[in-house]
Amino acid sequence: MPEKFMNGIGGRWIPARSGKTFTNRNPATGEALGEFPASGPDDVNDAVEAARTAYRGWRLTPAPKRAEIVFRAGEIIRERKEALAQAMTREMGKILIETRGDVQEGIDMAYLAAGEGRRMYGVTTPSEMPNKWAMSVRAPIGVVGVITPWNFPFAIPSWKIMPALVAGNTVVFKPAGDTPEMAWHFTKVFEEAGLPPGVLNLVFGSGSQVGGPLVEHRQVQALSFTGSTEVGLSINAIAGRLGKRVTLEMGGKNAIIVMEDADLDLAIDAIVWSAFGTTGQRCTACSRVLVHEKVHDAVSQRVAARARQLKLGDGLDPSTEVGPLVNQHQVETVESYVAIGRGEGTLAAGGERATEGALARGHFYKPTVFSGVRADARVAVEEIFGPVLAFVKVRGLEEAVEVNNASSYGLSSSIFTADVNRAFAAMRDLDTGIVYVNHGTTGAETHLPFGGTRGTGNGHREAGHTMLDPFTEWKSIYVDFSGRLQRAQIDNVSG
Ligand code: UN1
Repeated sequence: MPEKFMNGIGGRWIPARSGKTFTNRNPATGEALGEFPASGPDDVNDAVEAARTAYRGWRLTPAPKRAEIVFRAGEIIRERKEALAQAMTREMGKILIETRGDVQEGIDMAYLAAGEGRRMYGVTTPSEMPNKWAMSVRAPIGVVGVITPWNFPFAIPSWKIMPALVAGNTVVFKPAGDTPEMAWHFTKVFEEAGLPPGVLNLVFGSGSQVGGPLVEHRQVQALSFTGSTEVGLSINAIAGRLGKRVTLEMGGKNAIIVMEDADLDLAIDAIVWSAFGTTGQRCTACSRVLVHEKVHDAVSQRVAARARQLKLGDGLDPSTEVGPLVNQHQVETVESYVAIGRGEGTLAAGGERATEGALARGHFYKPTVFSGVRADARVAVEEIFGPVLAFVKVRGLEEAVEVNNASSYGLSSSIFTADVNRAFAAMRDLDTGIVYVNHGTTGAETHLPFGGTRGTGNGHREAGHTMLDPFTEWKSIYVDFSGRLQRAQIDNVSG
């Protein structure tokens, strides 16, 4: 019998009010890993109510004390890193080196966010008037709704929940249906670290039954979402209608630019891991290479040869290089794009499911490369979120930048060149939230802001020195100690 897990609401572990459940499965083997509550709007109401109640005390807990709990959570995660990484590989498929990195981002974020508890700097500034004091401080917002994806089931909740808590908010957390167990571990860690009941509430279930009601809930003042563009834009529309703060992190169509003077060995290695690491299921994954026409054939052929050699399998096996896709739906999306790609370029590797031996039990797809694709072809423009890479020829840096910036997304980009002048021009001109030089498109560090331009987001950044911005209001405070009515100030006339 798979283990039964519960929602975490108001410090209690309880089933969905309806009693309904869903099964969580290992995408490499199909094995059932656990039963989780299939919650609904009533459970969301309970969780928001618990978060509202807890907010009264949490808001007034000194920020350094709130941050100490986050720090302790980081210590517990560090002690459990290996077990958490193994559980993550079982649950969503990516290989152990990658799940260790995902958990490590949680540890890094805990220590970084905890430091904010002793900073959370505001501003003091002189007043226009005598005997008057002026300052601006950060204040929490209230109850925050956090909706997270399955591809980074520990790192992404950490970027959102840790700063939200340090800032004094309480949280209702709705994780992706494909990775409920990691969300359960995450919430348990905070319980063990001493977080008071109701400060972090966990509700499992679908987007329509839990996500929607959470977004719509009048008592949820701010939302933070990472996931598909389609869902993000619909959340944005609802948040706009209700006047809520929302932070969105959506798709990407990240390019690696390879100039003819680049160190090609280095570029090829970076392309392979940026494109096929996490089975291409990263919002920072490289899914198009904009390569100088002089080296297009050599680079695409060598990448295709590497792609064909990658070892697919269960991510728990240390020799595996590429794990499964997370679910059948992802396999179908990839299949439909590969069918489109066949008419748009030359298939140089992959192009089909991998079903040999034990692979038949899981959602495996062969790393796929298309060469000679036009810049405006669908496989070069649309986010696929799978192991599919398109090579596009360019005549120089100017054209590469133009093609890069024509995308409706703007998360990450990269340039490989040995020319320092070109590198600086690219750093200035590539219109993405993250730019890499002589490095693939993945590997963002938690102490730098994370997020993208254009259709990738809505202007916010997560983590980094900006981590508190999505979760705080600025409050300007004036203290008049003159003991009299300062008329000039009230009428806004100086002197
Ligand atoms: C994501 O793909 O959703 O930079 C996040 C990276 C990781 C985080 C990616 N640190 O690839």
